[in-house]
Formats: sequence, structure tokens, C-alpha cells
Amino acid sequence: MVSKLDPWGAVHVDDYSKLFEEFGISSFDEILPELKDPHPYMRRKIIFGHRNYESVLRAMREHRPFAVMSGFMPSGRAHFGHMMVMNEIIWHQQQGGDAYAAIANMEAHAVRGISWERCRSLGINEYILSLIALGFQPQENSHIYFQSENYRMRDLAFELGIEANFSEVSAIYGFSGETHLSHMESVMAQSADILHPQLAEFGGPKPVVIPVGADQDPHIKLTRDLAYRTRKFLVEQREGYISIRGKAASTSLMQAAEQVLRQGDFGKVKRYEEHIDVTDIQDRQGLADGTLREAMDQLIIKLETVHGEYGFIPPASIYHRFMTGLAGGKMSSSRPESHIALTEDPKEAAKKIMRAITGGRQSLSEQKKLGGEPEKCSIYEFLVFHLSDDDNELLELDAECRSGRRMCGTCKKDVAERIQRFLTEHQQAREAARERLPEFGIKD
Ligand code: TRP
Repeated sequence: MVSKLDPWGAVHVDDYSKLFEEFGISSFDEILPELKDPHPYMRRKIIFGHRNYESVLRAMREHRPFAVMSGFMPSGRAHFGHMMVMNEIIWHQQQGGDAYAAIANMEAHAVRGISWERCRSLGINEYILSLIALGFQPQENSHIYFQSENYRMRDLAFELGIEANFSEVSAIYGFSGETHLSHMESVMAQSADILHPQLAEFGGPKPVVIPVGADQDPHIKLTRDLAYRTRKFLVEQREGYISIRGKAASTSLMQAAEQVLRQGDFGKVKRYEEHIDVTDIQDRQGLADGTLREAMDQLIIKLETVHGEYGFIPPASIYHRFMTGLAGGKMSSSRPESHIALTEDPKEAAKKIMRAITGGRQSLSEQKKLGGEPEKCSIYEFLVFHLSDDDNELLELDAECRSGRRMCGTCKKDVAERIQRFLTEHQQAREAARERLPEFGIKD
């Protein structure tokens, strides 16, 4: 539904549009029309940006393998912000993807000093039970895992460490001479979390999307760079042709690549010492929209894996907006009054809603005159993000509030009831999920 009011577009988008120019994140607006049945977060512009999500979209559409992966640091209580990532993982699994959820206990232990035991308990009780309750399914290539127990990932982290040097990683994470080695190792673990679904034992190279908050983009950028660096070839789109650059590829590998490209019958193939150009391309459309480059890359990746290389595809990512804290400012795990935990007592949650900051005016009469400001209201935001399935309902609410016909008390009571109901049901589902932990290979 297209609407002029765009009641979910306005919230803090200004802050985020900077990310597009400064960091090279693409706007999700261009992708949205391509999705048949987008997730409400996409429709409501909560997911506002992406890197290379086209690769995932095409795989989804053509029923080729793809995966979704994200991670949770077990350092405190899981709240509605974390639930967004969980829902995004589950949605992609439901679209046919493999799904991976890491409990980042190496990171929590190394960076936050949380004991292994506590990491385990927080991992299960805060994150894993909710993931299962929300619909994460056990499947052949879908895993919920603790970083410390995933040795394929850890081996990959060690290998990736060869490609990352101290000065670039310091520039990204602000490391100094005081930073200890395990902290650095946990950074490589995160890159390996992201790339390991592409290892041969998990089905090989495939597009993988990482749903995260925008603050996690530096990790994504680094991991995309590392993926490029492990490749033997770079398949690059040029003006009117495609160039395949060998990166210290042996002569025999260059010859093999040339052969693969000739067999593909894309156009005229000419091999030079360190690159191969494909010109006179017939499929102009494919050249223009990038699908031809992708098709060639798939052949080259296949070739690389046959020769024992990783052939990683740079991971894609999607970025969601953060919810505002209930007391204003950011929603944060470390400030209980700012968030509602998924394990929160439903009555307590209702009270937090009743105390929350709204977009209401100083006085009742002023509100009747001027109308409320839903774009500044943490209660309205809860509806947009989580507690209303119905876009029309939101449009009506938005209009009623702005026109001064609806007062904050009514809204708060309504949302407080909804959140109580939601949490009661979710917490029951969590108890049922506890019984199912063994299906996911997790011992309670
Ligand atoms: N570092 C992330 C956090 O602080 C957690 C994390 C670990 C992660 N591995 C990941 C996130 C892989 C995305 C993908 O919350």
C-alpha cells in the first residue's frame, strides 16, 4: 500500500540517510518493489538499507540455495530490539533459506568478561528459547550454535586472520596496544560466523544475508573485504564488457578459467597474463542488470572450489532502524527502564508502557488543538514495529492522533494490553521450546 502519510517512514530517517552516502549502504526502497510478499519490517521501512541484497533476492526467486545468518552476544537480557533480528532470520528461513544463529559467547567472554557458564545460561534462556518460540526450525543446514563449540567456524576464523592485519582492524574497532589477543580473535570469529555457511560442508558458496542494526556495518564491510581477499579471481563489471582478474592465480588456473568462460559462450574471450576479458557480449540485458556478471562469477566460484579454494561470495546485509527507548534516548540492554525484555513479567511490561514517553502535548487542550506527534512516540513505534499486523489500523491511528481526536491515555492502555497478551503467549511458547532444545542439539 502506498500512502502519502507514510506513517512509518518519518521516524529518524534523516539520521539514517547519511549512512547511504557516507558508508555506501544502499537504500532498501529500490529493492522493495521486487519482493512479492515482503516482511512487515520491509513494508514499513524499518529495514531501510542493504548491501548487495539483490544477490539473495535472485537466489530466492530462482530457488537457488541461500542463507541467513546473525549473532547475539549473551551479555544481558533479550528485548524487542533483539527480537527483530530473530524475526528476520526466521522469515528468511521460511522463504527457503538455510538459517544460522550464533550465540557469541567467545565475544562476550573476551570483550565483556562474562563467564562461560553465564554465557551458556544467558544464551539459552534469553536468546535460544525465544528464537525457537518465534519459529526457528531445525533443518539440515540450519544451526543455532555457541561460537566456542563450532570448530569449523573457529578454524575458518584462524584462516581469515591471515588476511586481516593489525592496522586495518585497529582502524575499524579502535584497537590499541592495550587490546588483548582474544578480543581480536573474537572479531575474526564474527567474520567466520558470517562466512562459514559457505563452507563445503554446509553446502558451499551461496548468497548469505546478515540482518543487523546499522551500527554493525563495520563488521560487514570487513567481512566482505575478507571474502574478496580469499578469492583467486575477481569478476568485474566494466563499461560494455566483463573482466576476470586473476589474483596471483597460477597459469593452469588461468587456463582453466579461460576454458570455463569459453564453454559458457558469453562472448569473445581473450586471456592476458593476469586477466581475462569477455567482450562482444550478446546478452546486453544481463550485462546491464548485473545478472551476467553474477552468472560468470558462479562458474568461476565453482572452478575455485574444485581447486580447493573457498570461493566465498561477499555477504549481503540488511539494516533496520533502532527502536527509541521507552524513556527517550536509545533502547539499551543495560538500562531496564528503556526496554521491555522478552522474559519481562507481562504486568511489569504494561506498567512500563503506561510510563513511556509519547508524542503527546503539554496539556490535554493543547493536544486537542495541535494534535499529537506519532513520529515522536515510543508507544506508536511499538505498534509499528511489533504489535499491529494491520497497516490500515496504523494509518487510522496516525490520522486520529495528528488531528487531536485521540489522546495518549487511550493509546497507552491499548498498547499495554497488547503487550501483556503478546508476552504471555510468547513466554508460554518459550516453555514449550525448552522441551525441544535437543532437536537443536542443545543440552539444557
Ligand atoms: N557482535 C555482535 C554483537 O555485538 C554479535 C555477533 C557475533 C554477530 N557474530 C555475529 C552479529 C555474526 C552478526 C553476525 O551483538
